[in-house]
Amino acid sequence: MRLSTGTSGGEPVRWQRATQSPLDSISYTDLYRRWEQGSWRATAIDFARDREQWQADFSDFERKAAAWNYALFLWGEDAVTHGLSPYIEAAPLEEQKYFLATQQADEARHAVFFNRFMHEVAGIGDGSVGAGLTEIRPQLSWGFEQVFGRLETICDELRRDPSIPRLAAAVTLYHLVIEATLAQTGQHFITSYLTERDLLPGFREGMENVEGDEQRHIGFGVKLLSDLRQMDPEVPHAVAEMLREVLPWTIAVLVPPGWDERYITAFGSSFEDLVETGLTSLMSKLRSSGMPLDELPGPSVLPVPGRARERAERSKRLLLCGYIGEKTGRPSVAPEDMRLLFETVATGLDSAAAAEPGVIQWEFSDADPWHIAVGEGSVTAQPGRAEDPPLTLRARFEDFVDLVAGRKDARRLLASGRLRARGNLRWVWRSRRMFPPL
Ligand SMILES: [Fe+2]
Ligand SMILES: [Fe+2]
Repeated sequence: MRLSTGTSGGEPVRWQRATQSPLDSISYTDLYRRWEQGSWRATAIDFARDREQWQADFSDFERKAAAWNYALFLWGEDAVTHGLSPYIEAAPLEEQKYFLATQQADEARHAVFFNRFMHEVAGIGDGSVGAGLTEIRPQLSWGFEQVFGRLETICDELRRDPSIPRLAAAVTLYHLVIEATLAQTGQHFITSYLTERDLLPGFREGMENVEGDEQRHIGFGVKLLSDLRQMDPEVPHAVAEMLREVLPWTIAVLVPPGWDERYITAFGSSFEDLVETGLTSLMSKLRSSGMPLDELPGPSVLPVPGRARERAERSKRLLLCGYIGEKTGRPSVAPEDMRLLFETVATGLDSAAAAEPGVIQWEFSDADPWHIAVGEGSVTAQPGRAEDPPLTLRARFEDFVDLVAGRKDARRLLASGRLRARGNLRWVWRSRRMFPPL
C-alpha cells in the first residue's frame, strides 16, 4: 500500500488503509506531549531508607538475586541509550525523530537511576557508569548477551540501510522484544514484590517512573510498526524474520545463574510466570500493530504450540533439554524429550508451502530415528522410520540440535558433510519455503 497523506503539523498520521485502528487516535505529537508532562529526576531520588532496608530486610541470597536482576537492567538501559541513534536517523517523519530523541534522553535517565542504585545501595562500582558496567558484566546471562549483541548489529545494519523494512525489524527488536517483552515484564515483577513487602521506597519510586516512560516508548513502537506496515508490504516479513531469530534467545534471558530458580522464586514468581507474562505482552503488542504473532508470514516464528502458559512451559523444557539456549553439554536423547523437540520442529514447518505431501526422515548416529510427515495442511512428528521418504537427512543428533538452536549453520554442516541429504531434491526445492530461512 502507498502513503496517501503524510503528517500535517504533527497531527495523527493517516495512511491509506482499509480499516481504522485504535492507534489512529494516538499521534506522535501526543506522545511527545506526554513526555514533557511526565518528566522526573533520577538524581533527586533519596535512597537513604533503601540502603538500610537492603542490609536489614533482604537475606544474603535475596541481595545476590536482586543484584543479578537489577544488573540486567543497568546494562540494558545503557545499551538502549546509545543504540537509539540510528533509529532517529532512519525514522521517516520529523515527529517520529523528535519522539525518539526524547526516548533517548529517557533511557539515559534510566541508566543514571540504575547506576545510582547499584552504587549507592548495592555497593557496586565507584559511581561512574563505566565502573558499574564493568563490574556487572559477568552477571549477564547468555540469552541477554545474544539479544543485546543483536541490538548492536541491527544498529550497524540500520546505519547502512535505513530502509522501512530494516527499521521495522529494528523496532521489533527494540520496542517489542527488549521493551515490551523483557523490560516491562521485569519491571512489573520487581515492583510487585517490593510493593508487597513495602521495601526500597526510593528504588520503587524510580521503577514506577521508568515503567511510565517505558509504556510511552512501547506505545510509540507499536504505532510506528503499524505505520511502517502501511508503507511497505515487506514489513511483516522483516518482523517475522527478526522474531524467528531472537525469540529463542529472549526466552533464555532470565535463565538464572546455574539454573538456580531461587533467583526468581525467592521473590514469589517462577521462570514460567515471567516467560508467560512476556509472551502475552509481545502477542498483544503485535496484534495492536496489525501483525498478530501467529499470522506473520512464513514458517512459525514461535513454533511451540498452545496458549502463552503452555508455550512458556514447553520453552523451559526445551531450554533444560539443551535444545535451545546456551550449549552446556550433550542434548537429551530421552524419548519424551525428543518428542518435544520434533513436535517443535514440525510446528516450525510451513506445511502450506509444501509442493505436495511428503516425509522428512532423520537418521542419527547417536540417537533414535524420527520422521515428520507433511500432509495437506498438517504436519506430524513420529519416532522411527517411514517407508520411502522423499528426503532423508543424516547427521549426529548433537549437530542437528545445534542447527535447530541456531548454534550451527546448515550450509556449513552440509559443506563439511556433517549433514547429508538424500532423496527427491526436486521436492525439497519446490517445497523450500516450508523451512525456516537458513
Ligand atoms: Fe529504559
Ligand atoms: Fe525505553
